[in-house]
Amino acid sequence: MAFYITTAISYVNGVPHLGHAYEAIATDVIARHMRQRHSQEVFFLTGTDEHGEPVADAAKAEGVTPQELADRNAERFRALMPQLDVSNDFFIRTTDEEHQRRVQEVLQRVHDNGHTYKGLYEGWYCPRCADFKVENEILEGNLCPIHEIRLTREQEENWFFRLSTFQEPLERLYADRPDFVMPPVRFNEAVSFIGSGLQDVSLTRARMTWGVPVPWDPGHVFYVWFDALLNYYTALGYARPGEDLTDRFWPANYHIIGKDILKFHTVFWPALLMAADLAVPQHVFVHGFLLGADGRKMSKSLGNVLDPFEVIEQFSTDALRFYLMRDVGFGADGAVGMDSVTARYESELANEYGNLASRTIAMILRYRDGVIPDADTDPELAAEFAGLPERVAELLDGAEVTQALELIWQRVRRCNRFVEERAPWQLAKDPESARALDQTLASLAEGLRVISVLLAPYMPASTAKLLAALGASELSLPGATFAARTGGRCVIALEPLFPKRG
Ligand code: MSP
Repeated sequence: MAFYITTAISYVNGVPHLGHAYEAIATDVIARHMRQRHSQEVFFLTGTDEHGEPVADAAKAEGVTPQELADRNAERFRALMPQLDVSNDFFIRTTDEEHQRRVQEVLQRVHDNGHTYKGLYEGWYCPRCADFKVENEILEGNLCPIHEIRLTREQEENWFFRLSTFQEPLERLYADRPDFVMPPVRFNEAVSFIGSGLQDVSLTRARMTWGVPVPWDPGHVFYVWFDALLNYYTALGYARPGEDLTDRFWPANYHIIGKDILKFHTVFWPALLMAADLAVPQHVFVHGFLLGADGRKMSKSLGNVLDPFEVIEQFSTDALRFYLMRDVGFGADGAVGMDSVTARYESELANEYGNLASRTIAMILRYRDGVIPDADTDPELAAEFAGLPERVAELLDGAEVTQALELIWQRVRRCNRFVEERAPWQLAKDPESARALDQTLASLAEGLRVISVLLAPYMPASTAKLLAALGASELSLPGATFAARTGGRCVIALEPLFPKRG
């Protein structure tokens, strides 16, 4: 079984910020989880979107060429991934020659299939979105609904893509596949956009030069959105030198995107794929926006920006990953800020998970010379773990990263309560309670192990340290089943996973 997942590709007219980190981390959690399933071969793609007006304009303002600007900023996005512990299999840049050649190939086919025509385009254009807006999207005063900047009236001779002829096929797609777009509120948004009537869209730009040349009309370049969307397909052709992964991984299982680019991914994209005789992806998951702690859009001038690099520096990469997946329900908008990072770090990472880990290991060292007792685990505790890996897998099949984390976290809390209920320090005082103490320590070690395997996609570094200390580094999902009998392994002392900060 192959599993292919992508993030949106980032514009290089800016530099990486929390929104990019958020999307990459959420996608990484799903990709890492899928790798834990032995049956899955996973491919995870991210990258940069480098053509189009916004990049050309930003380069001009800086007095450099678009390529120079793209090279500089693409490097920052590429470097972001290891900083976040994101495990992408490839990083695509839309200026890659192989990408451009494949874009030309696919769009030539769309042209040959009769889905294009030449016409005069006049409309309201947002240079920041690189998009013409339809009348019913525009805010009063001809403002962009996303950027709230004044739109310009533009006219040019373009090649058009006959999007309108895909009205019926798209309606059928949505009728047949209620999980094509998730969550349901975004599905409904796409359906209502399609229902309001589709207009043909510009496929090429005559005035631009910073883009992929149109093979059948060399004066034009492709409109950046078509070039960009195709990255999901073209990458498979050249990501692994000498190998074409397309047959194995296409169509994609998941595109993970933010809500501002819903129309492109849920309307243009499936229509374009149909026009090129290609299969449409299984799911588009649309996440919400991270807002400042005051609930407003993050902006430097409001001083409400949460800087991912500062969180990493003050806490850790795992803390950032955990916080973002935990604090804002994936799919919804949510406010984030340094105060709530600190609160979650202290109450959940340090006091709950970190404390469970350090006391379990410390007690095994102290009471059993560092050997996990070879004993039956507590059946009641075992029952609370029954079916857990399967339920986590089910939730992550639906990209429910926050809910899956909550389910795991309930077990962290359960294990801490188990420690209090059993009071191993009392049992240790009475030689008659030796078996009860064995069972308690074996159960805790096993609970901690299972929890850590399931948390590994969220916090790869801390869980790896902990699992190594428990002498059980196996990460596969089937191995996350709570065993009825365990023990015999040695544990080793562990530094605090989430140390108190100065
Ligand atoms: N280049 C286009 C995407 C092309 S995909 C074929 C683009 N780039 S972007 O850099 O502006 O955004 C990249 C992703 O980050 C998008 O999915 C966007 O929704 C997401 N986010 C940008 N700001 C965000 C927040 N504040 N919060 C959460 N995600 C946000 O759009």
